Amino acid sequence: MEYKAQRGTIDILPKDENLWNYVQAQCFSIAKSFGYGYVETPIFEDSKIFERTVGEDTDIVEKEMYTFTDKGGDNISLRPENTAGVCRAFIENGLHNETLPARLFYYGPMFRYERPQSGRYRQFHQFGIECIGDSSFDNDFEVIKLAWNIIKRFKIPNTKLNINSLGNKEDRELYSSKLKEYFSKYLNDLPKVDKLRFDRAPLRLLDSKEEITIKISQDAPKTLDYISNESKIHHENVIHNLEELSKSDEDFKFRINDKLVRGLDYYNKTVFEYVSDSSGPQGVLLGGGRYDPLIKILGGPDTPAVGFAMGIERIVNELKKVDIKSKSDLDIVIVVLDDNFRINAERLSDLLRNNQLKTIIAPRRSMKGQLRFANNMNSKISIILGQDEINNDLLTIKFLNSKKDQIQIKNNDVGKIKSLIISEV
Ligand code: HAM
Repeated sequence: MEYKAQRGTIDILPKDENLWNYVQAQCFSIAKSFGYGYVETPIFEDSKIFERTVGEDTDIVEKEMYTFTDKGGDNISLRPENTAGVCRAFIENGLHNETLPARLFYYGPMFRYERPQSGRYRQFHQFGIECIGDSSFDNDFEVIKLAWNIIKRFKIPNTKLNINSLGNKEDRELYSSKLKEYFSKYLNDLPKVDKLRFDRAPLRLLDSKEEITIKISQDAPKTLDYISNESKIHHENVIHNLEELSKSDEDFKFRINDKLVRGLDYYNKTVFEYVSDSSGPQGVLLGGGRYDPLIKILGGPDTPAVGFAMGIERIVNELKKVDIKSKSDLDIVIVVLDDNFRINAERLSDLLRNNQLKTIIAPRRSMKGQLRFANNMNSKISIILGQDEINNDLLTIKFLNSKKDQIQIKNNDVGKIKSLIISEV
């Protein structure tokens, strides 16, 4: 075919509709149960918003942004992530004048020109939450726990939390210099891409996918040895809360990973990721951390914040693996035994749809063909309309998911049809 979807993009089709809606609904309901409110920002913003916050030397800004000049000459980017956009909205709409912290959540498409592979797309969806306006470790724990509630709801097996602290801005600078000192001994061994990182963003060396760099990184200095006393206390308090959580919930597992740095510049103190068993990028289900400097960088008042974002495609892929199938939500297929009764079928379908029952009239085929169609559509029941039914004001109900005998009901009794459908779910 001449036209294909762009590499790294997917179509979501009706067969997966239920699964996508399910994932979104669970995320929304858990966020709301923690007192978070929905925020929606535009999918494109002034490119500077991302350059200044995500960081000019990060892969995202340097190589992956969909950036263009619009017809008015403005430099625009499709959002590669949404923390920066939400913070822009927080400042612009004066949310800092309201009771803090602001508890916000969002859902929508993000865009990164990455090399597509399993679990890595160029257009993907994130559900994210941002807790803005409180520097306490309690809020770090709250967002980590909220994320855990979501993972648990989806029953994704063998998922654990990796957590680290980057300390404050000065700690990061000190740590960067220690890292440079260490890696300078191996400069000749580093691949080209990592030599560039060495010069511009040494922390990113710990994120490298190059085998040799990963090996060298094993003995690299650890962030936790270079963080200030204040950052250390903050970190210990978060860890204490996590230990308590793992005592009360045996499924909750976490590991302090002192090489976790994450690929965005705005983080300080806590950084974390929830990782499943799946290998490669697919395994990182969500990531986040504290980003106290960001709002000030965007011109707002000094306002601490913490949050995370989750990759919806990765969750959907995990759920497909454990076979939580997107069950069809079609209720009824009407099987019409004589084309003269099509008009009766139309009237019946109107009645059923007006009563919130999802209904399709089978295409003009033999009775067997129409029943096969109903089966293929995964509908819960079929209603057969033939001469006997029309003459006697009856409907014949056939159950498609169970071996129950077919039954007849009188007078288009919608209440009865609904109760039969519920018993089939
Ligand atoms: P991030 O680690 O860049 O963080 O992305 C968060 C999650 O989005 C990842 O863990 C992954 O599940 C998903 N994701 C990222 N890139 C892709 C991709 N190309 N294809 C599919 N899924 C992807 C952020 O975006 C931060 N804004 C998170 C945050 C919120 N930090 C604080 N608040």
